Amino acid sequence: MTSQTKTLEKLPLPPGNSGLPFVGETFAFLFDRDFSKKRLERYGKIFKTNVFGSSTAIMVGADANQFLFKNEEQYVRSTWPKSTKILLGPASLAVRSGEFHTSRRKLLFQAFQPRAIASYSPTIERITNDYLARWERQETLTWYPELRNYTFDIAGTLFMGVDNTSQTSLGHLFETWCEGLFSIPISLPWTKFGKALQARKGLLQGIEKIIRQRQQENKLGNDALGILLQARDEAGNQLTLEELKDQVLLLLFAGHETLTSAIASFCLLTAQHPQILERIRAELKANKIASPLTAENLKSLTYLDRVLKEVLRLIPPVGGGFREAIAPFEFNGYRIPQGWQIQYQILQTHKEADLYPDSEQFDPDRFSPENSPEKQKNFGYIPFGGGLRECLGKEFAKLEMRIFAALLVRDYQWELLPEQDLSLVAIPTPHPRDGLKVRFSRC
Ligand code: HEM
Repeated sequence: MTSQTKTLEKLPLPPGNSGLPFVGETFAFLFDRDFSKKRLERYGKIFKTNVFGSSTAIMVGADANQFLFKNEEQYVRSTWPKSTKILLGPASLAVRSGEFHTSRRKLLFQAFQPRAIASYSPTIERITNDYLARWERQETLTWYPELRNYTFDIAGTLFMGVDNTSQTSLGHLFETWCEGLFSIPISLPWTKFGKALQARKGLLQGIEKIIRQRQQENKLGNDALGILLQARDEAGNQLTLEELKDQVLLLLFAGHETLTSAIASFCLLTAQHPQILERIRAELKANKIASPLTAENLKSLTYLDRVLKEVLRLIPPVGGGFREAIAPFEFNGYRIPQGWQIQYQILQTHKEADLYPDSEQFDPDRFSPENSPEKQKNFGYIPFGGGLRECLGKEFAKLEMRIFAALLVRDYQWELLPEQDLSLVAIPTPHPRDGLKVRFSRC
């Protein structure tokens, strides 16, 4: 035992409660949106609990984020619940680490380079306009399920080349697959996990059929799937069919729920703050934003960007990320043993009073150039995570959010219907409990 290990052994574990035998505090963690807030107030910025069957340290704040992101692969490594790992598949970027992860990230990034992303704009604009026209015809609607179909159709068209994916058998299989992602991994015909495993088989067959068809016709395509079919790593190797299928599934999953939550929050918060909506509208008018929208003309919308940034601060679609301690370490005077699970907290970091005064307030101007706090650079604003695992689709997500918001606000108005519960449900990503009921029309 080295002297460093001996010193470490003497340090206390973080304060906190491990909850009930077996289940620990998993239910409170999943269903109480204030789970971390309550414990943060009681124990401070690092505390222990037990969730998903593992001793867990929750670490809050910019310093903790910096420590974890900088020590990825030294003290910590990304981890997912067992059900998620199995359903994502063995090749999925999200479940791999080390050199394989680094090289695959580079390869997949070819579909997210600025030039590639810019080429997706016309598809995003077309699908957005179709949905906007449909919602106008409906007049009143429950928006959240519609927004899920909308983001899924964009992902399906770009990553699989299938239009209206949400209405196809692949769309239905995807729903069943998603329902098992965070479940107890017992595979029986009637369990969520068992059904999701079956759905995974169907999805992979469907994706394989699409890929083989493109290869046979020798038309690989210019969409994201086409780029991935042609992408090579530094050694000149291409993705095998088996691997490509897992990566496509990951992109469908990663890019769908998160974006739905982000745009639903935009719709909700701007409806609740009409003066902010009017400022976005004025900016769109002043910049004469007309179709086709491009990354270039969207750049002039600096106020809209501030609003979207604030949406992702106040209601981050991903509340935090999990890591596993691959070596014991010390943080802020506490010992974290090897094998513990760690969660970094996006939601609570975004509520830190010294970074964000009046943090519950929706105030896009906190990101104006004159107010923008310097500390943001220091991992105090992390809706897309950070370090080696930072969101691969960050720029794609921002583009889709900009296009959606610009077309929506330029041409339409919406009003929240009375007598609905607007409190947020956290699972799978934050959204209003009653699904966001609105009256929708052209302005
Ligand atoms: C507003 C929308 C989005 C948000 C808030 C978001 C957030 C995040 C966060 C926080 C992580 C890091 C998780 C961790 O640290 O363990 C992540 C990872 C990832 N995201 Fe996103 N994401 C969004 C949209 C997208 C889109 C559109 C795509 C692709 C189409 C995407 C693909 C990925 C992938 C592949 C990873 C895993 C990266 C890796 O393990 O190296 N995301 N995302």
